[in-house]
Amino acid sequence: MPKSLAFSCTACGARQSKWSGQCESCGEWNTIVEETPLSTGPGKKSLGNVRGKTLPLADLATKEAPPPRASCGLGELDRVLGGGLVPASATLLGGDPGIGKSTLLLQAAARFAQSGLKTLYISGEEASAQVRMRAQRLGLEEAPVKLGTETSLRDILTTLEAEAPDLAIIDSIQTMWSDTVDSAPGSVSQVRASAQELTTFAKRSGTAVILVGHVTKEGQIAGPRVVEHMVDTVLYFEGERGHQFRVLRSVKNRFGPADEIGVFEMTGRGLAEVTNPSALFLSSREAQQPGSVVFAGIEGTRPVLVEIQALVAPAPAGQARRSVVGWDGSRLAMILAVLEARCGIPFAGLDVYLNVAGGLRITEPAADLAVAAALLSAREDAALPRDMVIFGEISLSGALRPAVQTENRLKEAAKLGFSSAALPSGTAKVGSQGLALRQMTDLTAFVGEMFGAG
Ligand code: TYD
Ligand code: MG
Repeated sequence: MPKSLAFSCTACGARQSKWSGQCESCGEWNTIVEETPLSTGPGKKSLGNVRGKTLPLADLATKEAPPPRASCGLGELDRVLGGGLVPASATLLGGDPGIGKSTLLLQAAARFAQSGLKTLYISGEEASAQVRMRAQRLGLEEAPVKLGTETSLRDILTTLEAEAPDLAIIDSIQTMWSDTVDSAPGSVSQVRASAQELTTFAKRSGTAVILVGHVTKEGQIAGPRVVEHMVDTVLYFEGERGHQFRVLRSVKNRFGPADEIGVFEMTGRGLAEVTNPSALFLSSREAQQPGSVVFAGIEGTRPVLVEIQALVAPAPAGQARRSVVGWDGSRLAMILAVLEARCGIPFAGLDVYLNVAGGLRITEPAADLAVAAALLSAREDAALPRDMVIFGEISLSGALRPAVQTENRLKEAAKLGFSSAALPSGTAKVGSQGLALRQMTDLTAFVGEMFGAG
């Protein structure tokens, strides 16, 4: 018999049989906490001995039309959801504290309610007055949203049952507290139990439920990752604090494509939708500068052009720095290693800073070539043509691998006034989208073509 495991990680939810300083699963430090079992159940009888009821089984074929999706009134949010909110679904909206989750959801709730659908907003974090003040600031105080401030899950569920709304927003799941679980609000067991109850309520009642989850860096508060597997859709709201851009990203979606993004701008009157993100991300680009490259990326289903900036400077004695914002640090290390091993261009003794402008976080391997170009341009102090976009994956051998959706990338570049592109060979027709194409098979050829003899 497997013994019940009594410890779990507040960052990733992994269970362990003993306490340790670092999670064995995700590697985070100080996130392992003791967990109270969810429920001990009355007189634990083996499932095999006591009969349950027979389940009603159904065919896959159905005559019913798929349930209509309800628009949130925010096009960017609708698209990330896969075309609007699905009834009876549970959605998790995660993000750093202060990034704008409550603002986004209050705006969505207001529009949703204005379209005639019953909407409840339950805040466990703020007093009614605070939520009202935000609504006023957003110019939404007249919206027919019903507001509740409560943390007791039992009372919330009773209210939800009675009201049967079309949409219920729970802000946040970490403040909810179920009296069936014997631990503090925010603990892994409380967060799990609350999310479970609310998800079950969504399925049973047809209400679309959105749970807010703060990303927590450490300590006793469970992060949103512990409930990711329970909900249908997981969205993360990202952005750099100092920037006004916010990116809403779907990382899981049972009703639509994952990895779709929506782009917003935080203004003095709430979040404004950005329908042309490329123009926004490139709007603050300075004059032709060494180290600056435009990457033609794909986020979800749409192309996004974004500036990648690199700075390479002699390192003071000792360890050279590698600092990355908006991209993966180990991917940067890989590119640096390939540049050294395959092209003979060392970065030892040099500090390397890499930044994705505008606060976007890029995960695509197709950014490799743009990153390499930015690094080389910074190192050689040679600016690349300002009207050029770059993309392509780099393999460990130094070969360039084609990226997906080459045509869409080129199309977006042409639309924004770019006139040339550097990319892996054999992936685009000559003269495609009216761009001058420089197609290369490997990184050495790229270095030769762009920077003369490598
Ligand atoms: P909030 O939605 O409270 O963040 P979260 O729920 O993710 O913790 O947003 C907090 C920040 O947004 C706060 O620093 C103020 C800023 N903000 C604006 O800039 N404009 C606005 O119209 C609103 C409502 C908030
Ligand atoms: Mg909030």
